[in-house]
Amino acid sequence: MARILTGIQSTGTPHLGNILGAILPAIELSNTGSNESFLFIADMHSLTQIKNGVELRENTYSVAATWLAFGLDTSKTVFYRQSDVPECAELTWYLSCFFPYQRLTLAHSFKDKSDRLSDVNSGLFSYPMLMAADILLYDANFVPVGKDQLQHIEMTRDVASRINHLYGEELLVLPEPKIQEETQLIVGTDGEKMSKSRNNYINVFEDDKTLKNNINKKIITDATPLEDPKNPESSSVYELYKTVASPQRVLKMSQKLLAGGYGWGHAKKDLLDAIIAKFGDAREKYHYFMNHKNEIDEVLHQGAEKAKAVAQATLGRVREKMGY
Ligand code: TRP
Repeated sequence: MARILTGIQSTGTPHLGNILGAILPAIELSNTGSNESFLFIADMHSLTQIKNGVELRENTYSVAATWLAFGLDTSKTVFYRQSDVPECAELTWYLSCFFPYQRLTLAHSFKDKSDRLSDVNSGLFSYPMLMAADILLYDANFVPVGKDQLQHIEMTRDVASRINHLYGEELLVLPEPKIQEETQLIVGTDGEKMSKSRNNYINVFEDDKTLKNNINKKIITDATPLEDPKNPESSSVYELYKTVASPQRVLKMSQKLLAGGYGWGHAKKDLLDAIIAKFGDAREKYHYFMNHKNEIDEVLHQGAEKAKAVAQATLGRVREKMGY
């Protein structure tokens, strides 16, 4: 049986775009697939950017609560927090001693981040080694990632090959990337791709009133008078409605917009109702978990126990070969 492993960044509460574009398809795959799957929250990677411990911890909780709220089956997926298995920091060091400094200087993601961020620490520079350790520690065969992470997987394969070359081909398993095509592009409130950095996102976990205010305030519409016919495509209200409402309701909204007498305010209200209807159950569960963080801890600790068993076996092999 193949083992699939992936890490999730913990940079804040997942938004509608993250949920529809990445989280739901991944949950579907891991709940129904026949492969063994490992999924972890990369909270040690987050330390490169987040130095406030409370924020770091809260981010992990809100990411975990989201995956649990949408039904991740933790009896099928080993779900854990990276920092609960500090073995990966030890492996990071070993890998670092086998990987040319020069190769790390060629990493696109480091160049990109060091241009953008003010805190350019050396953790940011050796980020690919921590990611390689995340993967190699668990003998992962396949790693689903976005295109931007492909170079990191190549580096993982590279460092594993160098080590295997010296100590024997069975020592580390070389992973294959599985490119995640964007299954569905979710538009943001301004018509561009929904993203945290553009602040054009919708947070479905907000309470009804805040969600309503944000939908009203953030989604851009033109000033066509209420009674006039409107082009549905001219605002992302309609695009967003398509992602959350049934095809019949979507058709109805487009007919009403085209007919006139139905304003963007009405459309926003219908969008709000559709979001609340579609995510009602998940919103309730999310808040339940955020109010019972001990339950999240328990789930993640159970996952970490399973992960640790694999991690320790791998580290045992590596230490022995290296002479420790
Ligand atoms: N770097 C990945 C990202 O930004 C997250 C990540 C950390 C990861 N460790 C990983 C992904 C290991 C796959 C495997 O999305």
